[in-house]
Amino acid sequence: MFRSLPESKPDAILNLMTQFRADPRTDKMDLGVGIYKDANGNTPVMHAVKRAEKKLVDTQDTKAYVGPVGSRPFCDSIIAQVMGKDADTDRIRAAQSAGGTGALRIIADLLKNLRGKANIWVSDPTWPNHFPVFNAAQLNIEPYPYYDAQNSRVDFDAMMGTLGKANKGDIVLLHGCCHNPTGADLSQDQWRAVAELCKTNQLFPFFDLAYQGFGDGLENDAWSVRHFAQVLPELAIATSCSKNLGLYRERAGAAILVAEDADNADRALGQLSIVIRSNYSMPPDHGANTSHLVWSDPELNKVWRDELDSMRERMTRLRSDFAEAMRKRSNSDQFDYIIGQKGMFSRLPLSTDQIEKLRSEHGIYIVGDGRINIAGLPDANMDALADAIMGVI
Ligand SMILES: Cc1ncc(COP(=O)(O)O)c(C=O)c1O
Repeated sequence: MFRSLPESKPDAILNLMTQFRADPRTDKMDLGVGIYKDANGNTPVMHAVKRAEKKLVDTQDTKAYVGPVGSRPFCDSIIAQVMGKDADTDRIRAAQSAGGTGALRIIADLLKNLRGKANIWVSDPTWPNHFPVFNAAQLNIEPYPYYDAQNSRVDFDAMMGTLGKANKGDIVLLHGCCHNPTGADLSQDQWRAVAELCKTNQLFPFFDLAYQGFGDGLENDAWSVRHFAQVLPELAIATSCSKNLGLYRERAGAAILVAEDADNADRALGQLSIVIRSNYSMPPDHGANTSHLVWSDPELNKVWRDELDSMRERMTRLRSDFAEAMRKRSNSDQFDYIIGQKGMFSRLPLSTDQIEKLRSEHGIYIVGDGRINIAGLPDANMDALADAIMGVI
């Protein structure tokens, strides 16, 4: 039977990661894959996480099943982190998920069950994996314009123009902070306008919040979702512990549902629980349990927040250093936009040929759309990188 299957195309980003590993050049640079790296190019286990894991191993006395929506203490903690301490938790529920992707998929399945083949509007560009995830959930994906590549900023008028034509009941996927791949986020006024549009035209906001803490800090990065929860009756949020706790392979995250009231919230979580049960039955435990231990122990929580702050500050510094190196090499301020963007990514105005040349001639690995991982920028080698980029432009 398998003989009749077509060859599958490898995922572009994962493919780049494999090529990078196989490249023998010692001065190679990986600006491709979306994981945080320190100055040595490593993605170490955070200290707070390591200590929580030790505690978990020492104190856990059962591996019995937990249930489809996972651990209640974890869900309560992640609601507090994302929605804020003052949120109206009566109308908010969460299900522990297998990372942010798992949360995106179970929410998408829930929405498909509720709405049939509904439209889901995604920014152009967006994280490429949104397409297979929403296709698999049989939603109909429509793009809305988002990024003005000429001027390296959000094209807000075009975004609002297109979303203004969406049908009542359509779903709008929004990156809560640190837009992937552009790093270009909405201002608070722009978020207010999008929330107003969703309210007036009865669009359903679906947030992807994978980078809370990587932009302007844990609180500020959640401003958008908290504002929407205040002004709209319903929304969904897919959040992840992959980046801000560095738990990538452990697969921890949550699907958060905000409903009109407690009854509706319970009904929504009940349906989400059925989606989960019929899929993988129950989420993985280790990452979520570890995250909860970090958040619930005041000392570990402080260690974690300090580590997260220094990761963010490092990325902010790298943005400035890179822009500075590019300013010197290009004799222009055309790369200064990178300083004001947020999170782990920005886009360089490079053609496919230029990206290929950077890889083959300089061992510099960049994703095909020009997206660079800011955390992968070489602290000590910024001038060499700027030279190579200007050399191909
Ligand atoms: C925008 C966006 N959403 C969701 C995810 C999913 O993250 P996870 O690894 O937790 O599934 C990522 C990961 O790169 C992402 O960039």
